[in-house]
Amino acid sequence: MGKAINNQYHKKLVIGLFGFGVVGEGLYKALQQTSSLNATIKKVCIKHASKKRNAPEELFTTDKNVLLNDYEINVIVEVINESEPAFEIVSKALLNGKHVVSASKKMIAEHLPQLLKLQKQTGKSFLCEAAACASIPVIRNLEEYYDNDLLQSIKAIVNGSTNFILTKMFEDKLNFNDALLLAQQLGFAESNPSLDVEGYDAVNKWTVLLAHAYGIVEHPDNIVFNGIQNIQLSDAVVAQEKHFEIKLIAQAKKLLNGKIAAFVLPQFIKQDEPLSFVKNEYNGVVIESSFADKQFFYGKGAGSFPTASAVLSDIGALRYNYRYEYKKLYHHIVPELNNDFFIKTYISFDDWKYIPKEKFEWIEEWHADEERKYLIGVLPFNEIKNKIWWKENNTSLILSPEPIIEDVEIRRLKKKSLELAGI
Ligand code: HSE
Repeated sequence: MGKAINNQYHKKLVIGLFGFGVVGEGLYKALQQTSSLNATIKKVCIKHASKKRNAPEELFTTDKNVLLNDYEINVIVEVINESEPAFEIVSKALLNGKHVVSASKKMIAEHLPQLLKLQKQTGKSFLCEAAACASIPVIRNLEEYYDNDLLQSIKAIVNGSTNFILTKMFEDKLNFNDALLLAQQLGFAESNPSLDVEGYDAVNKWTVLLAHAYGIVEHPDNIVFNGIQNIQLSDAVVAQEKHFEIKLIAQAKKLLNGKIAAFVLPQFIKQDEPLSFVKNEYNGVVIESSFADKQFFYGKGAGSFPTASAVLSDIGALRYNYRYEYKKLYHHIVPELNNDFFIKTYISFDDWKYIPKEKFEWIEEWHADEERKYLIGVLPFNEIKNKIWWKENNTSLILSPEPIIEDVEIRRLKKKSLELAGI
């Protein structure tokens, strides 16, 4: 568990807040309703001084050093958009002896090794629950509750905007652009929404969660991912015929060799599975452990107050000097990421010429309309990892409900089919 120091339990937290957008303003309002936290915002650093804001003018500054060099401020909360300035702020804050709470997924995913080093070097807390599934306390659960050895798999919807868009398109029959616009208006989408739509936000969050789940510290560039940009209405028709939902799913699974398979890709989800009930901006996480079997976490994954609630909870945890101990990283043997497995997948496309049929172990179903064609087959995962044909030319790849097939299973199935053929 995090370290508890009783005499500091009611210590006063004086906050310097960076960013007053959807999350920053949400936090400002939420803090006004939670006096029990004994936390106040002393100053807010913003980029554009001229914008009208719903808070007293004297609270704001555009000079980051006013916050970073103020010795009374003992907590920096950083909820800005740009990743590099965020890293600079967080580093300086930790080095200046302040605890930090951050919601910057991209910054954390891209700078995890440096952030781990800074935490060790300074002994200060760096908490980031809002950088994973917004209101769902998944990081703290992975940190505190699940032992690496017992954690068999995690499967999650970690991006609210794409889940919102898929729900609006396929259930409410909105077109993609209208659904995206609505996600932006409701404050779910990133300021550059292609980060959501093309899967970058989800893989950044997955990078953060892999560190807390398994101690794996990997750059997001090394994790296979895609977003929902290639999903077509015809894919939704196939999903409906097969009684599936289409979701953008992040998953990690312990393979028989003890290594970890991890990726973020669209997937067909059976309609009786918990993740199929996750609609709109909600997120969901299914954790499978050796003895408990499956557990399901569900909650709002985007939006002002749900995200602010995670920041608020991290601020509250600082009262008793909570910090992540990264037990899986520092006190366990860290499992490697591994790509030596196969995936069963649906692929729809405009023309057969875009599909390297010879790369498939087998194709078990195919369908060809003049307009759109699809197949369901089994590919080595390395074909997905090392090539990009499956993202190009209007090709849409959606994994099957149980997509991971291990090498031994492929060999068993091949042997069986040769026996059946009398060879
Ligand atoms: N754009 C993000 C999402 C916001 O849609 O999930 C919450 O991290």
